[in-house]
Amino acid sequence: MARTQVAIIGAGPSGLLLSQLLHQHGVDSVVLERRSREYVAGRIRAGVLEQGTVDLLVQANAGERMLNERLVHDGFALGFAGKSFRVDLRGLTGNAVSVYGQTEVTKDLMETRIAAGARLIFEAHDVSVEGFDRAHPTVHYSHGGRTHTLTCDFIAGCDGYHGVCRQSIPTEAMQSFERIYPFGWLGILADVPPPAHELIYSNHERGFALCSMRSVHRSRYYVQCGLDEKLEAWPDVRIWDELRRRLPASVADAVVTGPSVEKSIAPLRSFVVEPLKFGRLFLVGDAGHIVPPTGAKGLNLAAADVRVLYRALAEYYRTGREELIDGYSAQCLRRIWKAVRFSWWFTSITHKFSEDPFSRRMQLAELDYLTGSSAALTSVAENYVGLPFENPPI
Ligand code: APR
Ligand code: PHB
Repeated sequence: MARTQVAIIGAGPSGLLLSQLLHQHGVDSVVLERRSREYVAGRIRAGVLEQGTVDLLVQANAGERMLNERLVHDGFALGFAGKSFRVDLRGLTGNAVSVYGQTEVTKDLMETRIAAGARLIFEAHDVSVEGFDRAHPTVHYSHGGRTHTLTCDFIAGCDGYHGVCRQSIPTEAMQSFERIYPFGWLGILADVPPPAHELIYSNHERGFALCSMRSVHRSRYYVQCGLDEKLEAWPDVRIWDELRRRLPASVADAVVTGPSVEKSIAPLRSFVVEPLKFGRLFLVGDAGHIVPPTGAKGLNLAAADVRVLYRALAEYYRTGREELIDGYSAQCLRRIWKAVRFSWWFTSITHKFSEDPFSRRMQLAELDYLTGSSAALTSVAENYVGLPFENPPI
């Protein structure tokens, strides 16, 4: 029977980063991933990194290409009432964010892990986890037509929202909190230059729109859409028209259109489970919490969980002390709830929830207040760049 110290389920950013940081601290892991390596490396996700995430990737020895290719953004814009207002992140907080796609982060982490000789098992099917209330949990899976069992000291559930780890916890042992929003985001990726060098989050009476980017040659746009929309109903030309209608005129005029490279529709959800530790099983990243993408906190929160967990496990293996392990859930949840609050609030002031004219006036008043108050702007900016961490990296 195979053995490792930490069995990591899922080779998304959470699982790969955790495995690498543990390796650097002398802790052995095996990563089991349901999908193929090509599928995981090609998945399109968001692309704004807080400085804390950048620092952790560099520390993990997976930051070199990111430091060369990222775009450092000192601000972003809020569009509303036909105008665009810049939020000066650098001026308000002294910090900036880095634009670098999660797809690239995943590829970099994979390469770093493979170069370090990691045990990454792709296309591991029928993964099941058991015995995490005992000293040595086990993981069963099938691979290449054979069934396998792995024993370990800990299981890290890095298997995303639809993963098996959270589903293996008795429902009475956890509490979940959820908000489903009455709309989705229709995303389009195209090899055209962005209309401005920073992101624009636009509130419009037809619905929200976002101008983002992956590089100075590749743009990523989103428009709020109904939950029952079908991609077939959105040929590129319709997306470009709808996008331009929702942007301030000066930005709309600068949008360059072109054929889409990728299109997708995603629902928006806030979700948190408590606690994040059950015996020797930890939930990490999307497995334990989801935020709507407004503000791009998903990947950054996942990295923040990993930051807490690798330190706790490294400390346990170095000294035998369990305090940090026992504190994992409480420590992560404090940051998670603040990011859930920020993402929910940012969604609430930028999206169209109903036809109700009072709600619309409230949104416009909030945006008008916000853009006229340095106190309110500082609050937005400090959340957007990422709240400070309690502990320095080890
Ligand atoms: N067995 C093995 N692997 C699984 C299983 C399973 N039963 N279920 C899911 N997985 C894999 C998925 O295929 C995926 O590769 O777990 C991985 C989870 O990765 P992500 O969903 O990317 O989650 P995470 O690594 O926590 O990254 C969080 O990704 O979804 C975004 O907004 C989110 O940006 C955030 C980041
Ligand atoms: C993206 O580029 O995909 C992106 C950027 C910012 C967000 C969400 C998504 O808030």
